[in-house]
Amino acid sequence: MQLTYLGHACFLLETSTAKILFDPFVNPNSIVQEIRATTLDKSLVSKLNTDDIQCDYVLVSHGHEDHVADAEAILKSTNATVVSNFEIVSWFQSKGVQNGHPMNHGGSWTFDFGRVKYVTAVHSSVLPDGTYGGNPGGFVIEADGKTIYYAGDTALTYDMKLIAESYKVDLAILPIGDNFTMGPEDASKAAKFVECDNVIGMHFDTFGYIKVNHEDVINLFAQNDQHIELMTIGQTKEL
Ligand code: NI
Ligand code: MN
Repeated sequence: MQLTYLGHACFLLETSTAKILFDPFVNPNSIVQEIRATTLDKSLVSKLNTDDIQCDYVLVSHGHEDHVADAEAILKSTNATVVSNFEIVSWFQSKGVQNGHPMNHGGSWTFDFGRVKYVTAVHSSVLPDGTYGGNPGGFVIEADGKTIYYAGDTALTYDMKLIAESYKVDLAILPIGDNFTMGPEDASKAAKFVECDNVIGMHFDTFGYIKVNHEDVINLFAQNDQHIELMTIGQTKEL
C-alpha cells in the first residue's frame, strides 16, 4: 500500500485494488501553487496536477472548502465514487456526480478494496455554497491487512477511544494545526486514545492560523514515545 501526500488534508491511498483520494484541496492550496511555480521536478508537477489524478473513490470528511475544492472536477473526470455523509453525497449528486455512496456516523460498509467506517469528528460542516453539510466525520479504513484512521478535522474527543476498542489501528492520520482542529498536544493524546503510536500529521501550514514548527511537533510526539511524520507535499511512502 502506498500513501501520497497532496497537501493540507489531501492524501492518495493506493491499495492493491483501489486508489482512494481523501479531501481534495490541491489547486487553491498556496503551498502547492508555489511548488508548481518553482519546482523542476516534472513527476512532482504531475502528481499535483488534478487533471492527472487517477482514483476510484473520493472520501470526503466534511463539507468545508479546504476539503472539497477539487472534488467535483476529479469525481467527474475519473467517474470515481464519492463516499461521505448523506448530505455531502447528495450535494455532489445534485451537481451531476454519477457515483456516490452515502454513509452516516457509526455505519460501516464493505467496498471492493476493504471496509470503511464513518466515525465521529467534533467540528462543523457546511458546503461552499452554504448548503448544509451534515455532521463532520472521519474514516477507519481496513484494507490489505492494515487499519488506517483518517480523523478529518476534529477536536480531541473521548469517542476516539471507541476506535481502539474495535480496531488495532496501524496508522493514524491526525490534524495537528491547532486553531480549527486539534493542535499537536491534543493530537498526541488522540494517538493514545486510538492506541496507535504511528502518526502522520495533516491540516498544518496551509494558512497563517495553522502554521506549526515541525521540529517541535516531532519532539513533542517523541517525548510521548510516539512517532509522527510530517510528509512533504508530493511525497509517497510505503505503508
Ligand atoms: Ni473544516
Ligand atoms: Mn479544514
